[in-house]
Amino acid sequence: MMNINLPLYYSQRAAHYDEIYQRPERQPELQGLCTQLTQLVQDKNVLEVACGTAYWTAHCAKHASSVLATDSNPDMLALARKKLSGQPQVQFQQADAFALPEGDYNACVAGFWWSHVKRSEQTDFLEQLQRVVGSGSTLVMFDNCYVDGDSTPIARTDAEGNTYQIRRLPDGSRHEVIKNFYTDSTLRKKLAQHARDIRVVRGHYFWMLTCVLR
Ligand SMILES: C[S@@+](CC[C@H](N)C(=O)[O-])C[C@H]1O[C@@H](n2cnc3c(N)ncnc32)[C@H](O)[C@@H]1O
Repeated sequence: MMNINLPLYYSQRAAHYDEIYQRPERQPELQGLCTQLTQLVQDKNVLEVACGTAYWTAHCAKHASSVLATDSNPDMLALARKKLSGQPQVQFQQADAFALPEGDYNACVAGFWWSHVKRSEQTDFLEQLQRVVGSGSTLVMFDNCYVDGDSTPIARTDAEGNTYQIRRLPDGSRHEVIKNFYTDSTLRKKLAQHARDIRVVRGHYFWMLTCVLR
């Protein structure tokens, strides 16, 4: 049976999630993302959306003044808390990406999240960031490029243009997961109403977008 529920997929994947960061061919680009990210969050009060196992939280934590890392998934958060226990500048909170906690932030980080946001929900998400994170705050998003022969193929496209992959977990379970891939110009066009100073850097495996929320 195929699961189509994204939270359930990530619950079942949580224990294996960090394996994605071990792939040798991706290390140089991951290192580059990490360098960019740590410079961007230097001395900032960061709200992190969909933090997963805190791979990026850990990097932010070394340079930011504070990080509130959120995810809707308790299994992910349990692993995240374990990874970063004893770091007082980092707090974790269970929160849906569309119901983010209020706070005194001046930066927002969302890694590998934008691809999971339905096209019809992007405006709501960005308007929420403007409201909760605040005008003048830095937004950093990064995600996958579609790489022929490496990415999981697109299994279907829905009526509004969202694309979906069929992913299999080590326990044999099968999951249909929304995974949208965007060109630089599509990213810019979508963000333009909500942010200024948009910059997109694209590598082979990953892209990173930085901007200032309006
Ligand atoms: C691709 S993972 C990214 C994790 C982390 N940011 C990283 O880059 O390693 C997507 C994350 O989104 C979380 N997630 C899924 N739906 C969510 C929602 N509605 N609100 C908040 N987090 C959600 C999952 O639990 C998972 O941790």
